[in-house]
Amino acid sequence: MSRLLSSTARKFVVRSNFMNQARGFSSIDNVKRVGVIGSGQMGLGIAYVAANVTRLPVVLMDINQAQNEKGLQFMDKLLAKDVAKNKITAEHAKITRELVSTTTKMSTLSDADFVIEAASENLNIKTAIFRDLDQICKPDSIMATNTSSISITKIAAATKRAEQVIGMHFMNPVPVMKLVEIIPGLATSDQVLEQTRSLATAMGKTCTVVQDIPGFVANRLLMPYINEAFMLLECGAASAEDIDTTMKLGTNMPMGPLTLADFIGLDTCLAITKVLYENTGDSKYRSSVLLQKYVDAGWMGKKSGKGVYTY
Ligand SMILES: NC(=O)c1ccc[n+]([C@@H]2O[C@H](COP(=O)([O-])OP(=O)(O)OC[C@H]3O[C@@H](n4cnc5c(N)ncnc54)[C@H](O)[C@@H]3O)[C@@H](O)[C@H]2O)c1
Repeated sequence: MSRLLSSTARKFVVRSNFMNQARGFSSIDNVKRVGVIGSGQMGLGIAYVAANVTRLPVVLMDINQAQNEKGLQFMDKLLAKDVAKNKITAEHAKITRELVSTTTKMSTLSDADFVIEAASENLNIKTAIFRDLDQICKPDSIMATNTSSISITKIAAATKRAEQVIGMHFMNPVPVMKLVEIIPGLATSDQVLEQTRSLATAMGKTCTVVQDIPGFVANRLLMPYINEAFMLLECGAASAEDIDTTMKLGTNMPMGPLTLADFIGLDTCLAITKVLYENTGDSKYRSSVLLQKYVDAGWMGKKSGKGVYTY
């Protein structure tokens, strides 16, 4: 992968690693290349931060080439915006772009020291990916998943090296949100936990460490709130706008629960509520019928152009 970088980009990577350490970021000396699986909204954001902040070469992999292209176009837009706002120079943006390459072949990730999986929130998809990663990755590679709710222990069990599998839960939008929840599975080693914390810190994030329970902490709290907002909409308690305005102005939230759900993706919200319900057996987590209906209709939220609102 580094062979593909220009000599300017290569020099920049070395200098940035020094600068990260000088800025007090933890050492990530053992991470020379990052692989990201899924070039949807989360994977793209993770690749962007790894290249733009941490100055690491990144290979972004998606089964859908059109999605890779869409992701790169979005990255160009993000970079142009940052340059226009004088947050970064045009030279910095050019190098960021050079640091990111895309592929549809999982085998291209064979030389990555750290892989972060951000494919769709589905247990079968994730276990199949980790089974393949186990065959492809170097013996000492760390394999992280950005799952919002699925058991890390279950995903790790698809490999023969569960001690190297960990949850690394970024928030959306990744370039803006400061938090990463780190979730060790039952077998994850302390060393892998510390290396994951170092990488997240070098990406400019603050970490919390959370036990491997359904939804971890962020979505154990957030999804019942969003699901309840759908239940209110479903029973006609108020319009979508009034539900959102109530929470925005009444509790000082930056956006209401239904706008937030559209932003996260309604398919992702539904998948998370199902994991909470199925894995706790507690009826308080049952999914809203309306949320299910929207997903059945293909209304996935902002990413599909229609959800609770139209985009
Ligand atoms: N959306 C959020 O707010 C949010 C926040 C934190 C974590 N997450 C988690 O991040 C993950 C991705 O979410 P997203 O919002 O980016 O979804 P998304 O729908 O925008 O993107 C998912 C991508 O995964 C790709 N994909 C599916 N199967 C694949 C495979 N086998 N190999 C490679 N790529 C594959 C799809 O083509 C798609 O591009 C999910 O696990 C989700 O729960 C989402």
